[in-house]
Amino acid sequence: MIRLTVDPLDPDPGLVNEAAVALLAGGLVAFPTETVYGLGAHALDPHAVRRIYHAKGRPSFNPVIVHIATPAAAQALVTAWPVAAERLARAFWPGPLTLVLPRAPAVPSEVTAGLDAVGIRIPAHPVALALLRAAAVPVAAPSANRYTELSPTTADHVRHSLGDAVDVLLDGGPTTVGIESTVVDLTSGHPVLLRPGMISAGALSAVLGEPVLRAAHEPESDAPRRSPGQVERHYAPRAELAMLGAGEIAELHHAPDRVGLILRTATVHVPGAAAIRLPDDPHGFAHGLYAALHTLDEAGCTRILVEELPRDPAWDAIRDRLERASR
Ligand code: TXA
Ligand code: MG
Repeated sequence: MIRLTVDPLDPDPGLVNEAAVALLAGGLVAFPTETVYGLGAHALDPHAVRRIYHAKGRPSFNPVIVHIATPAAAQALVTAWPVAAERLARAFWPGPLTLVLPRAPAVPSEVTAGLDAVGIRIPAHPVALALLRAAAVPVAAPSANRYTELSPTTADHVRHSLGDAVDVLLDGGPTTVGIESTVVDLTSGHPVLLRPGMISAGALSAVLGEPVLRAAHEPESDAPRRSPGQVERHYAPRAELAMLGAGEIAELHHAPDRVGLILRTATVHVPGAAAIRLPDDPHGFAHGLYAALHTLDEAGCTRILVEELPRDPAWDAIRDRLERASR
């Protein structure tokens, strides 16, 4: 693996070009987006896309998001561009929002896992945008972790999870948003939320002028699924994870086994437990969450207790990830 360290706000064009050349040659390039690190491949090269599935150990029924730098490049990947897509793209791109739209024939079925729809987004990270412009092709990129593991928010997370399966690792420091993009399906008459993210259902509804409904859970099966984010245990640390009220955490007088705590408001001290405090606001909490889980995993914790989240919808996407991780 070649690791190239770049300034997150002003990446060196020579290093970005080196990564773009690797992409165009069919290589796998891990790069930072504002949400999490992506494992990128030339989206129009079926062989390169198959390498993503192999590197991640990911079942072939999970479609991959395609990243582009401009709305025109986005429209070239789809056969319909409804008013809803135009409104959401104007409001939230570049940004942590993926739109699912009918796939154009140019998009290989490897990208969409055989589905007739493709997920697309313009990321808001200067390094991701520089890479997309330099390569001048759409880039298929799932999160740069092995299947069912935690998404990476730093280059070291990528290296630990994928190692030499990656050809080039663009290190642009920690990501800012910290959890994966909101995914909304626009292929039917009504927008459907496939995966919650920091752009909330309420924010989407406000722009669209209609409610955005949450997709029903799909049963496990080998059929191509609308949303691989709905795989039961996903986004999970190795440790067993549970959510607990601040009061219940305060009653733990000592840690029974190797317990890690993720606290928000509680000021308890539990002897024997490793504790990480995250900000008591959804953006700060999301930003630090995966790094905290990675740290506690690496410290050898077998249980992670997370202080319960406020019921406010601004915390919905974070609650979704923690609930999946605790299954
Ligand atoms: O923030 C993100 O979205 C990150 C960065 C790298 O962009 N990517 C990411 O990709 O999280 P991945 O592969 O780990 O998650 C893929 C998600 C699924 O949960 C699914 O909802 C959606 O993308 N998706 C992609 N293509 C789709 C399609 N054709 N139909 C339905 N859902 C799709
Ligand atoms: Mg993922």
